[in-house]
Amino acid sequence: MAFVLTVFVVVILVLFSWSADSLSRDEFPSDFVFGASTSAYQVEGAANEDGRKPSIWDTYSHAGNANMYKGDGDVACDGYHKYKEDVQLMANMGLDAYRFSISWSRLIPDGKGAINPKGLEYYNNLINELTSHGIQPHVTLHHWDLPQTLEDEYEGWISRNVVYDFTAYADVCFREFGDRVKYWTTLNEVNVFAMVGYGIGAAPPQRCSPFSLGNCSRGNSSTEPYLAAHHMLLAHASVARLYNKKYKGIQHGFIGLNLLTISFVPVTNTSGDIIATQGAQDFWMGWILNPLTFGDYPDIMKKNIGSRLPSFTKEESNLIRNSIDFLGINFYSTFSVNNHSKSLNMKDIDLIPDMDAEITMLPENDTSINTVLDSLKNDYGKFPIYIHENGHQTPHSSSLNDFSRIKSLHKYIGSIAKAIRSGSNIKGYFVWSFLDVFEIIGGYEESLGLYYTDFKDPNLKRQPKLSAKWYSNFLKNKPIDPKIIMKVESDASLL
Ligand SMILES: *[C@@H]1O[C@H](CO)[C@@H](O)[C@H](O)[C@H]1NC(C)=O
Ligand SMILES: *[C@@H]1O[C@H](CO)[C@@H](O)[C@H](O)[C@H]1NC(C)=O
Ligand SMILES: *[C@@H]1O[C@H](CO)[C@@H](O)[C@H](O)[C@H]1NC(C)=O
Ligand SMILES: *[C@@H]1O[C@H](CO)[C@@H](O)[C@H](O)[C@H]1NC(C)=O
Ligand SMILES: *[C@@H]1O[C@H](CO)[C@@H](O)[C@H](O)[C@H]1NC(C)=O
Repeated sequence: MAFVLTVFVVVILVLFSWSADSLSRDEFPSDFVFGASTSAYQVEGAANEDGRKPSIWDTYSHAGNANMYKGDGDVACDGYHKYKEDVQLMANMGLDAYRFSISWSRLIPDGKGAINPKGLEYYNNLINELTSHGIQPHVTLHHWDLPQTLEDEYEGWISRNVVYDFTAYADVCFREFGDRVKYWTTLNEVNVFAMVGYGIGAAPPQRCSPFSLGNCSRGNSSTEPYLAAHHMLLAHASVARLYNKKYKGIQHGFIGLNLLTISFVPVTNTSGDIIATQGAQDFWMGWILNPLTFGDYPDIMKKNIGSRLPSFTKEESNLIRNSIDFLGINFYSTFSVNNHSKSLNMKDIDLIPDMDAEITMLPENDTSINTVLDSLKNDYGKFPIYIHENGHQTPHSSSLNDFSRIKSLHKYIGSIAKAIRSGSNIKGYFVWSFLDVFEIIGGYEESLGLYYTDFKDPNLKRQPKLSAKWYSNFLKNKPIDPKIIMKVESDASLL
């Protein structure tokens, strides 16, 4: 009896301390959407089926992923065949929305020209399956996966030709799917794709200078990241103009663009470190957000990069400024910033020589998303924000009882509620990822999914992790199992 009483008291105490930190869906505006994310190459598989041709990501993974890990998306989660089952799992979990991407080279295998009828059919089926279950489709047009044909023909994003072809591809998507899709994101993680794909060479299309980390066979790290991002901005603006002129009046949807945000914190209070931190923010987020808000790159970039930074004509600047209806952000990490830049060092992730600062990754920190949201609000105004990706990575082999993920999601969602109370205009939150996928960093070894995918099972069986049940209870306003609360609260090592 004494034992039972003790347990009872502990439960009460724990419930009490948790409730001080409690979280309810009711704290969010009624039109706030909660969802989960994936991207085409990471889930679909069927890479060589029904007329799909390779993208630069297929090429990158078949070339060995810059020797960082093994694997490719040839089969991935076989989402191409299992989409009905997956949408049912989303519906059971209670998701309001699903963020996925269209594989450009599945829909238009050569990047331009003929549409692949099987690709069209697949995306129509997926979208219909979602909407018939009451799940909003939030669609990204480019998630690291330019058609390889365009890379071969004119070197992809470093050529201005891509603006025309990307706009024509978007036109097909709006025309075919825009009656049902209202949330369009042109490009995923513009800043990372440019910096890592063209600066470091550790992501597709694996272009960099010979001295860089990615062991690239072509590229120029001191010019191409800026050129690629410039063309992405022009392509985004061109697509937004197309949508606004031709579709918005009929379809009433919204156009956004996505960035990876990072919380930068100065190492010390010295003015040097504080200035360096502002510089890091300008280089990482201002790079894209200054043109979208003010029509030009940040001054510090113009000063440090000089003639290697492309410039906008007056007309381009006007086209880009205010070309987003919403901003999509991904958030995972916090970096400290030191005014002193030192030589390239993999361990310190000191990767941006022009930035003239040293950045070092800090442990995961849920409250630092508030610093990012505050600085977005203060520096760029109150445009609507969707948190397109946020999540917690664990080894793929870890337990289905993923307490660390529950604790992390609980804290992040709490931090977002707090940001909304303090005036941030946040409209939605998507967990990366809906299920374990082929990761851009970590392949099949590292996972962030709410559902476990058994990659050794020929049927690629999905199993809910405890975090899927937790998220579902949160979404349905059901009480959280006290046993989960006890475990999460009592283990200080979690997050
Ligand atoms: C990169 O381009 C710059 C500017 O055109 C040039 O000076 C430099 O030599 C190039 N670097 C490499 C590695 O090709
Ligand atoms: C770089 O790539 C070449 C050719 O693709 C390969 O032979 C070599 O082992 C690679 N080097 C490193 C350090 O990965
Ligand atoms: C930074 O300044 C604040 C207040 O000005 C002070 O409380 C804090 O200890 C300082 N931090 C460091 C790392 O110097
Ligand atoms: C930059 O950092 C170095 C080393 O931390 C320090 O000695 C120097 O005073 C700093 N410079 C400025 C301008 O704060
Ligand atoms: C998390 O980040 C916030 C804001 O950047 C900082 O004040 C806090 O000390 C950090 N917490 C940890 C545990 O690093």
